[in-house]
Amino acid sequence: MKNPKKINLANIPTPVFKINYNGCTFHIKRDDYTGTELSGNKIRKLEYLLYEAKKLGADYVFTSGGEQSNHARATAIAAASVGIKSKLFLWGQERKNYDGNLFLDKMVGAEFVFLNLKEYQNLEKHISREKNKLERKGKKVYVIPEGGSSPTGIWGYINFVRELKEQLDGKKIKGILVAAGSGGTTAGILLGLHLYNLNFKIFAVNVLHTPEFMTGKIKNLADECNAKYKITRKIDYSRFEVIGGYSGEGYKHIAQEKVHVIRDFARQTGIILDPAYTGKAFYAFNELFLKGKKTSSVLFLHTGGLFGAFAKRKNYLGV
Ligand SMILES: Cc1ncc(COP(=O)(O)O)c(C=O)c1O
Repeated sequence: MKNPKKINLANIPTPVFKINYNGCTFHIKRDDYTGTELSGNKIRKLEYLLYEAKKLGADYVFTSGGEQSNHARATAIAAASVGIKSKLFLWGQERKNYDGNLFLDKMVGAEFVFLNLKEYQNLEKHISREKNKLERKGKKVYVIPEGGSSPTGIWGYINFVRELKEQLDGKKIKGILVAAGSGGTTAGILLGLHLYNLNFKIFAVNVLHTPEFMTGKIKNLADECNAKYKITRKIDYSRFEVIGGYSGEGYKHIAQEKVHVIRDFARQTGIILDPAYTGKAFYAFNELFLKGKKTSSVLFLHTGGLFGAFAKRKNYLGV
């Protein structure tokens, strides 16, 4: 087994801090510190994916997600930084004001294809049509799946475990809680636990799909990557658990009771959580691992998403 090659984009290692919320002390790993414009969990995956795109000599990278996709924004910015154009296939509609992540996409010159939900369900068709058009003009296109979650991309989170293990150093931590959208972060950590021999449990708070679908997706991604790179003889799936029930309001929305926790957490710690992923994951974390306790042995992974908060400023400020 050989680690695939990557380019360096992320400011890593990201720090682990001990913080206190409502009288309970716990550790947080700040993967929202992987960069400034290029912040959050996607950068670790993009280091591997853009290495492949560069190797292919790609003129364009294509990727997809919701209109406020952190992954699409990170891809557009990372691609611009290495001289590749980006085309984003976004579930949403063109707006007069480009806010949050869309504003940054626009700033770095990303091209957009906006799709409604029905069209987005046929994403592959739209991607291949645009890809064919460009290829007929002699351009090379590298397609990155939603969330950067491919057997190559999830190496970012396989190697995240090596980084985390070095930081544990006597801390009493037995598990990690993370938001799950496309499942790649969880699948990568799962394989990393095997590769770097760390006895941890992963709690993946599902924000997008049903828990059954998400569990299958994480297993498939881990299996595919393991088949390709032969990381372990057998994957122990009991090392991860998908937690459902914390995104009933829908991926693009955030319930007011969660906004209260997000705001309260910001006022006590100075840390801002996003509306689609970390806000929901932290709400679950608080319910399951903090309330009524003095310390928690589960670490919270802050996976970024700050710019998504700008597009929800009215909800956040309660107006
Ligand atoms: C801020 C943030 N956190 C968590 C996730 C979930 O990561 P994954 O798609 O690897 O499950 C995403 C993207 O989907 C994200 O943008």
